[in-house]
Amino acid sequence: MNPIKAWLEEHAYFDRLLTVLLEEADALNAGDMPSYELLLDVISYLRDYSDQVHHPREDEAFRRLASHSPELRPTLARLHQEHRVIAESGERLRERVEEAAAGAVMPRAAIQSAAATFVVYYRNHIATEENEVLPAAARELSEEDWAAARNAAPSLGNPLVGESANERFRNLRRRIAAEAVSVPRTHQGSPATSRGLSWRPDGS
Ligand SMILES: [Fe+2]
Ligand SMILES: [Fe+2]
Repeated sequence: MNPIKAWLEEHAYFDRLLTVLLEEADALNAGDMPSYELLLDVISYLRDYSDQVHHPREDEAFRRLASHSPELRPTLARLHQEHRVIAESGERLRERVEEAAAGAVMPRAAIQSAAATFVVYYRNHIATEENEVLPAAARELSEEDWAAARNAAPSLGNPLVGESANERFRNLRRRIAAEAVSVPRTHQGSPATSRGLSWRPDGS
């Protein structure tokens, strides 16, 4: 697959997962019974796949792009730093949700606000990559650069789609499938989503 298309499609997956995260966190705040399992599935997916595969590949692509496009160096350095912030805040969010699922008494608003902050930060990160970095990457990076970026992380396959789908995420796949056939969302999606990139949970 074209590396830019693959990159955008991964962002579209993440955007859908962030929507599920926000909806479940809002349910928590509204006093509804949240699905802690779904919340933890989303966070686990983002920790395991985005933090372990997507971001290391981006870091390698950014490192190579910085030598081609020196004017982008401050932006690329900030995005690299944001990968660390996303990983750390995702882990803190997982700890909070796990404590709440285990029955710990904690203000529901605390989880909701932590989740909402995480989602806004993540979406801003993705928007910056798509608006400021991808056009230059498409222009400047060679086949060799893209291969190096791919090789910067193991090819685990997307645990939400196709043959590599993990049984652990079965409920999350169903939820995303339901979201995909519902009316168009009104939330502020990522540029990938607003460009109409589609993703179906069967990976087709
Ligand atoms: Fe990133
Ligand atoms: Fe990204």
